[in-house]
Amino acid sequence: MKKAIYPGSFDPITFGHLDIIKRSAEIFDHVVIGVLNNNAKQALFTVDERVAMIRDLVEPCQNISVEAFDGLLVDYAKRIDASIIIRGLRAVTDFDYEIQIAQTNKVEYPKIETVFMATSLQYSYLSSTVVREFASYGGDISRFVPNEIIPLIQEKYKR
Ligand code: PNS
Repeated sequence: MKKAIYPGSFDPITFGHLDIIKRSAEIFDHVVIGVLNNNAKQALFTVDERVAMIRDLVEPCQNISVEAFDGLLVDYAKRIDASIIIRGLRAVTDFDYEIQIAQTNKVEYPKIETVFMATSLQYSYLSSTVVREFASYGGDISRFVPNEIIPLIQEKYKR
């Protein structure tokens, strides 16, 4: 069985992430969305909030699960017996960072393969940072994230 991890901060999840998740689930037997619990980074949502939000959105899909992880991604991959890491590439600007991480992960755990998926054209500008920035100024984020999570994001910016 080909089990893949799609790791990320997902703070918050966007249509770009969901597009990669949906396409990955059509290729691999099982996709685990690994939500990084990174204490060093000041996040908008707690890791539990992010996991719950994503679970609600992917709930109808049988071959997708959502979990929090901390520590090294390769250790997590070993623990859950996943052999593939999926990462989305929006533009060449993502590539420098992603190739370095992919190669480092391969050195650390030779059995792991990183598969890069080209972001769909309509989401090539989109990032969680863009969503947070728009939401912080009360902007319309309906083109960026599913309706279900808009109130949760707006709530975070209420004074
Ligand atoms: O959504 P992001 O923030 O771009 O995701 C980055 C992520 C979670 C894939 C990356 O930071 C990661 O794998 N972190 C876990 C720690 C780790 O394994 N680092 C390896 C760096 S060489």
